[in-house]
Amino acid sequence: MTQAPMSEFPDIPRHIAVIMDGNGRWARERGKPRRDGHRAGAESVREAIDACRELGVEYLTLYAFSSENWSRPADEVTALMGLLDRFLDEKARDLDKQKVRLLTIGQLERLPEKTRRKLDRLRDRTRGYTDLTLVLALSYGAREEIVRAARSLAAEAAAGRLDPESIDCATFASRLQTAGIPDPDLLIRTSGEMRVSNFLLWQISYAEIIILGKNWPDFRKDDLKAAVAEYRRRHRRFGGL
Ligand code: IPE
Ligand code: IPE
Ligand code: MG
Repeated sequence: MTQAPMSEFPDIPRHIAVIMDGNGRWARERGKPRRDGHRAGAESVREAIDACRELGVEYLTLYAFSSENWSRPADEVTALMGLLDRFLDEKARDLDKQKVRLLTIGQLERLPEKTRRKLDRLRDRTRGYTDLTLVLALSYGAREEIVRAARSLAAEAAAGRLDPESIDCATFASRLQTAGIPDPDLLIRTSGEMRVSNFLLWQISYAEIIILGKNWPDFRKDDLKAAVAEYRRRHRRFGGL
């Protein structure tokens, strides 16, 4: 296990996960189309990345599109995919410059081919960076992820290559898409909704949860820093005393 890089902040969360919610409401409050809310939300993504780099957070996971979000109207889905493409084009240079490694989780095979190719290239190009890892959750659903893990273990057991009795939490976690990534210490959700919406159900077992009232497009670096400050005041017990 590596230590958090900034000893100045000993209790900095290693991994922050964010449910970026409220783009549509932000737009509605301004009489704008939902797409404008999503576009404004892209700026908040940059802020979140910058804040994590400044604090020395090692992993930032962003819930950008859920498996359930495919059920939205086609024009909204198309707009979101277009914005993701644009974000990847613009971010390609920044991630390199900022030495941010990109990883992805989710059912990427459901994404447009063009987007998948961009993601492949960017993941490949940034694989050597170790300062901050940005994990994009795209077409992601935690239940699907858990079912896939169970299926792969069941297939191995059925083939006689795995003793079911040997399966423990570590074995199971190693079959999730987040294998090798430490569990989130802090989960932030914007827009005031108090639910997890099928995000990282296994991994957030002991995450500290902070719900912010503001919508995602209004999220700035200081919001992330304030959430970390609150996290540092909390007492994590992990079931003990
Ligand atoms: C979050 O904002 C972005 C995605 C889910 C893709 P929403 O689009 O959910 O905005 P609200 O919750 O309707 O305001
Ligand atoms: C969760 O937000 C998904 C993302 C932020 C990508 P939703 O807006 O889809 O969740 P619900 O519908 O409010 O539960
Ligand atoms: Mg929402």
